[in-house]
Amino acid sequence: MDWSAFFELHKDLPREGPGRPEDVAWALGVAGVKPGARILDAGCGPGADIQALLLATAPGGHVTAVDAHAPFIEQAAKRWGRDSRVTLTTGDMRAAEGPFDVIWCAGALYFLGLRDGLDAMRGKLAPGGTLVFSELVFRVPEPSEPVRCTLTKEYPAIGTTHRLNGIIEAEGFEIVAQKMLPRASWEAYYGPMDQRIARLRPGADAALAAVLDEGAAEAALWRAHNEEFGYALSVLRAR
Ligand SMILES: C[S@@+](CC[C@H](N)C(=O)[O-])C[C@H]1O[C@@H](n2cnc3c(N)ncnc32)[C@H](O)[C@@H]1O
Repeated sequence: MDWSAFFELHKDLPREGPGRPEDVAWALGVAGVKPGARILDAGCGPGADIQALLLATAPGGHVTAVDAHAPFIEQAAKRWGRDSRVTLTTGDMRAAEGPFDVIWCAGALYFLGLRDGLDAMRGKLAPGGTLVFSELVFRVPEPSEPVRCTLTKEYPAIGTTHRLNGIIEAEGFEIVAQKMLPRASWEAYYGPMDQRIARLRPGADAALAAVLDEGAAEAALWRAHNEEFGYALSVLRAR
């Protein structure tokens, strides 16, 4: 992977994975999160979920948003850099200092490995706190070959929701609620990415063209096979 070409595609996108404000509102609503909550947005990317997190915990909510990729934090800072309700940090989510009443982790826990990620986040939760994370899963026991081959190459540890829930429970969490992210949440990611691919395509060099092809193929796979895989959004409480 040519990382500079990868970030040429991904720079300035509104978000870096599927999700919408409605998903944040649903998760924090079912968890009964209170105004004034201390929130960690772990792997926040460009900060797409910060506004919904603040809305769901107003008045008095505070978001600590952490991402390992400095340009994403710079992008988030354009909107949130002067807001006292938000602290932006470039770094590893495992280094964030809790405790937090809510940990929100959209499409980022898998970077740590699911078990290690759950373990690391549990240690940062305040008593009675809520961990919400989204994770790519197979929705069927036997996905078709293009789905299985492509996704296991990108994410070898991918499994079914049943397997995901087994790991969650083995790591000492209760599942308060869980749902698959709807199509609209995926389009909130792929729609702007389609537009950026079309804009970058003319004049792209070989490395960028390869990254654009990969992005387009990823979106095409999801649109053709979204009944076979998706993002499970899980709302958890430590037992
Ligand atoms: C798929 S993106 C999702 C970003 C954002 N949550 C969103 O939905 O737009 C995953 C993010 O996790 C970040 N990341 C990966 N490992 C990380 C770590 N150990 N600590 C902090 N951020 C990390 C990446 O830089 C990337 O921005």
